[in-house]
Amino acid sequence: MTKLCRSRSGLLLCLSACVLIFVFYNFGDLDNKDFFAPEIKECGVYPDELCAALLESKPAALEIANICQAALPLSKDQGPQCLQEPTSCAKIIQELHFIMEPLSEEEANFPLAYILTIHQKLDMFVKLLSAIYYPQNIYCIHIDKKSPKPFSEAVKKLTGCFENILLASKVEAVVYAGFSRLQADINCMKDLNNSGTKWKYVINLCGQDFPMKTNREIIQYLRNKWKGRNLTPGIVQPLHIKYRTAVSYKEFVNLEKSYIYPTETLKSQPPHSLTLYFGTSYYALTRDFVHFVLSDYRAKDLLEWSRDTYSPDEHYWVTLNRIKDAPGSTPKAGWEGNIRVVKWKDQEGDTHPGCYGHYVRDICVYGLGDLHWLANTPHLFANKFDPEQYPLVTDCLERYHRLKVLNGSDVQSEPHWYFQGDYFRISKGSRDLRKVTS
Ligand SMILES: *[C@@H]1O[C@H](CO)[C@@H](O)[C@H](O)[C@H]1NC(C)=O
Ligand SMILES: *[C@@H]1O[C@H](CO)[C@@H](O)[C@H](O)[C@H]1NC(C)=O
Repeated sequence: MTKLCRSRSGLLLCLSACVLIFVFYNFGDLDNKDFFAPEIKECGVYPDELCAALLESKPAALEIANICQAALPLSKDQGPQCLQEPTSCAKIIQELHFIMEPLSEEEANFPLAYILTIHQKLDMFVKLLSAIYYPQNIYCIHIDKKSPKPFSEAVKKLTGCFENILLASKVEAVVYAGFSRLQADINCMKDLNNSGTKWKYVINLCGQDFPMKTNREIIQYLRNKWKGRNLTPGIVQPLHIKYRTAVSYKEFVNLEKSYIYPTETLKSQPPHSLTLYFGTSYYALTRDFVHFVLSDYRAKDLLEWSRDTYSPDEHYWVTLNRIKDAPGSTPKAGWEGNIRVVKWKDQEGDTHPGCYGHYVRDICVYGLGDLHWLANTPHLFANKFDPEQYPLVTDCLERYHRLKVLNGSDVQSEPHWYFQGDYFRISKGSRDLRKVTS
């Protein structure tokens, strides 16, 4: 079949064969008349079946899904309709499938805090928030000072519907690899520390992340595997990273382009003879550790010292978590801890088999062919997603995630917690099958 697909004249025939084989092996009772309709209705009628076939990596699923994805209307990333026009919170909650009660005792008794630093990509943020939202948790959203107004307005409209979603009380203009990224997290930590919620762990994410595990699976992983310790994977600062803290860096902030650049001023050694570590800027930290970060003299001094370094978020948490008397610390930690998976370009063939979407700054933006791999990752979250480029990837993941969530729930599901079958319906004016294949 693969050979046949390579010849141009055989393409249509092959596609039809693929569709037929796929339909009869996977969908069973699909009506032939529907199948031959010009708007490829099968993309819209059985989204869960198509997604399941992709996630299980069934033969032909990828070909069909690519056609379906190309036939979806192009997104302009304006967010769901209900955020663009006057809509009640009750309707927003319903239309965006928010779950408004804890799904088990276990989850009700183990509230989490989230820090979400976002600056664009409204559609993805909405998907992320509706996937991780529960009333027992608490959320701090840091909207970049440079974000376009329509974006921040839509985010405020959505988050205004929930008492347990805070907007950071102090906002930064976040510069790539700059101190502002770290400061944004600290601002949110202060707000979360001062909120009434007795959250157990705080997890930070960005707007292009998505959960691979359910809330219940996340807390079970934290409770059973980490038992009150922090997750901040990393190692002693390697030689090739030393340039980041050897000289003083400055931030250049501008509406068009912001960046940080090195100066010729050498930096002093880190305060209190701390050994610098290097790791990820993504973590799961305990409440006591956050108290420590906000109040301990070493944490405060290291923060000040880090102000003019390159990408301080990649050394700050990791270094503090190696201090023996820091709450929940692991002085001899390495790279263990499955918080967030990224397919880095330079790890191709090593930690992953390659990227089926495309690389942006050496990070894979996941495509349809990555779904099977993602479904099997042990990590709690994955990065990076872009529904503007691969709408079917995120649509499938949110459906798959929600089915897992409801399967593991102890309460009766509300109808609006499910995604309906019409989500993929091809709207008038979108490209149809004939255009896609010619
Ligand atoms: C954190 O919260 C505690 C109360 O739980 C409070 O005593 C402390 O001052 C807060 N720390 C900061 C830096 O806001
Ligand atoms: C549903 O939950 C059960 C256990 O409660 C588990 O064995 C099964 O694999 C789950 N199914 C899916 C599709 O997640």
